[in-house]
Amino acid sequence: MTALSLFTSGGLGDLALRQAGFDILVSNELLEDRHAVFVANFPSTTAITGDIWENVQRLERRTRERLDGGDLVLFYATPPCQGMSKNGRGKLLSAIRAGDKPALDERNRLIIPTMDLACRLRPEIVLLENVPEMADTVILDEAGHPIQILEYIRDRLGPEYHGRAEIVEFADYGVPQCRQRLITVFSRHERLVEWLQACSTLIPPKTHSPDGRDGTARWVTVRDALDGVPPLDAGDADSARSEIPFHRVPLLDPLKYWWVQNTPQERSAFDNQCVRCGFDQNQAHTARRDAHGVNRASHATPLYCEKCGEMLPRPSVERDGRRELMRGYTSAYKRMSYDKPASALTRNLSYACSDNKLHPEQNRVLSLYEAFRIHTLNRYSYQWRRNDRRRVSDKTVREILGESIPPAGLQVIVDHLVSIYDGSVVPDEMLGPLFAR
Ligand SMILES: C[S@@+](CC[C@H](N)C(=O)[O-])C[C@H]1O[C@@H](n2cnc3c(N)ncnc32)[C@H](O)[C@@H]1O
Repeated sequence: MTALSLFTSGGLGDLALRQAGFDILVSNELLEDRHAVFVANFPSTTAITGDIWENVQRLERRTRERLDGGDLVLFYATPPCQGMSKNGRGKLLSAIRAGDKPALDERNRLIIPTMDLACRLRPEIVLLENVPEMADTVILDEAGHPIQILEYIRDRLGPEYHGRAEIVEFADYGVPQCRQRLITVFSRHERLVEWLQACSTLIPPKTHSPDGRDGTARWVTVRDALDGVPPLDAGDADSARSEIPFHRVPLLDPLKYWWVQNTPQERSAFDNQCVRCGFDQNQAHTARRDAHGVNRASHATPLYCEKCGEMLPRPSVERDGRRELMRGYTSAYKRMSYDKPASALTRNLSYACSDNKLHPEQNRVLSLYEAFRIHTLNRYSYQWRRNDRRRVSDKTVREILGESIPPAGLQVIVDHLVSIYDGSVVPDEMLGPLFAR
């Protein structure tokens, strides 16, 4: 089965495609440092590095050459999500129609060259992955008219294609990480169209749930994912690294270490209590939305114990000769839970001050090695290397991880599409009449 991969980055999603049996003929990614890691891991793919706006014709030509007269089965595209708006579609459209000009992010228009290429290649299946906000995002089309992205995709593909977009929680497919994505599948293939008509969805049934009800398994937790991984300590250089590649963490200075050391599981260091007198009723940190809907952290959170006056082990900064509580949200300097999936890994995963980044029990952030396990990369063969032997920086590793979805979650979806495509599963609704006969 043949596939084309757009917005490929380091190709973590492509690992699922390859395992499902796809030959990824051609890939495209803007950034060389990311694409180089893909190239090293997918040597038989024709990799075109550069802006998709400038490469549609070239991508079409190279894909046709590689197809050699055959049909393209899977068109896989994961456009960047930084520009996706949380604004309600209705609100935005009515503002535009009323003559206002709300800022529309240019990056969301990457769907235009993406659909240009899909229309030229007419693949059997189109699979798009993005943030749930994509469902509400409005763009200006080629003629400058505002249109919701999903309507644009449907219009461009035309009546031959059937499909829909659905929000998928990856923890529901056995991934030790909560990560919601909008999965959009359109197809012109007879079996997929029939399946969609019979079942109203092309997304597979959930295999996992928070408490393991209705025949599903329990969510896979951080404890499951990190089982057997040697401990590390960010308090001293020798204990902050190990023999295992990528199992190392940045050191914390003594003050930060003190904040982290006193932070219980699932709590933020901003809620830490007095370590001198033991008083544990000092006001916890809070945040709430202001009149404009912007989330604002409280300024009333104490830094000194309300009982004995000692400084609390809460994040603080020196300002005009005195210490003040650091500005930050309730999820900053927060320990993750051992008994739930991790929250979505981001490119900031090595920064203690970022959201939910502290190890459940040890005094440190997660190592990259642990992040790979939480991202299910340990279930695949993947190397952080480039063919020119230049080192792949930790920053690039974190960017590739943070902007991708865990491949094992995508795997369940892609395997399901493949089994419908090759006829190895038939919807229950169609089995009934077959047995009756
Ligand atoms: C969400 S990430 C893709 C994740 C990837 N599919 C994976 O599995 O790891 C989106 C990628 O689109 C790339 N990108 C952004 N603008 C682009 C453009 N104009 N042309 C091609 N790629 C672009 C970004 O550099 C980024 O790596």
